[in-house]
Amino acid sequence: MFTIRPYRQNDHDAVYDICLKTGNSGRGAEHLYDDPMLLGHLYAGPYITIEPNTAFILDNGQKPCGYILGAKESKSFYKKMLNDWLIPLREKYKKPSSEENEWTKDEQIIHQIFHPETPRVFPKYPSHLHIDLLPIAQGKGLGNNMMDHFMKYLIKQGSTGVHLGLGIKNKRAFYFYKKYGMTELERDDDTIYMGLKL
Ligand SMILES: CC(C)(COP(=O)(O)OP(=O)(O)OC[C@H]1O[C@@H](n2cnc3c(N)ncnc32)[C@H](O)[C@@H]1OP(=O)(O)O)[C@@H](O)C(=O)NCCC(=O)NCCS
Repeated sequence: MFTIRPYRQNDHDAVYDICLKTGNSGRGAEHLYDDPMLLGHLYAGPYITIEPNTAFILDNGQKPCGYILGAKESKSFYKKMLNDWLIPLREKYKKPSSEENEWTKDEQIIHQIFHPETPRVFPKYPSHLHIDLLPIAQGKGLGNNMMDHFMKYLIKQGSTGVHLGLGIKNKRAFYFYKKYGMTELERDDDTIYMGLKL
């Protein structure tokens, strides 16, 4: 029996774990990283730290099996992410010293901690989200329920639109979002951006 509930502080490690177990175009990324926290530091930690009220957990009664995280106002969120999250996080890591083409997966993420790409913002879709479910929760329509829950929350908060970015190789996620009613806004070599008016 799955339920959707607000994020709690003691979900922190489970959220990081889900991020790693779905961080390879929707599949497990455990084998790709030596430091199991790195992916979470970039894609989960900022949300549950800066905007924990905009984070929801899919719980099967025993443990978190998925999450939907995001920001109500992406532009101000990214400012806080840089100042309150990434800059302090730099104290834990050393900039990679080797040439870019020799970087390990860990070093690629560490580089992004020191030199984050300027995030895309879409003024007509000011909020954004990340959703990840563990394999035991996938394919059951629960992703739709999580999205509905999140959209209701955003509408209550006064948001007028939401966007997200997904890896170009993640075909399942692309069709899932399309079926949910999201439209493609833009794409580059790595990422497809999709949006939904609220
Ligand atoms: C992507 C994800 C959120 C989808 O949630 P889900 O609950 O597993 O979604 P479902 O497989 O139940 O599919 C929901 C709908 O999308 C449709 N869909 C899913 N995959 C599809 C595909 N490859 N082609 C066409 N439609 C597809 C389903 O038909 C279903 O519609 P229906 O309910 O009307 O039949 C979830 O699988 C997940 O977290 N995956 C791993 C992490 C990930 O990739 N996150 C997204 C990162 S951008």
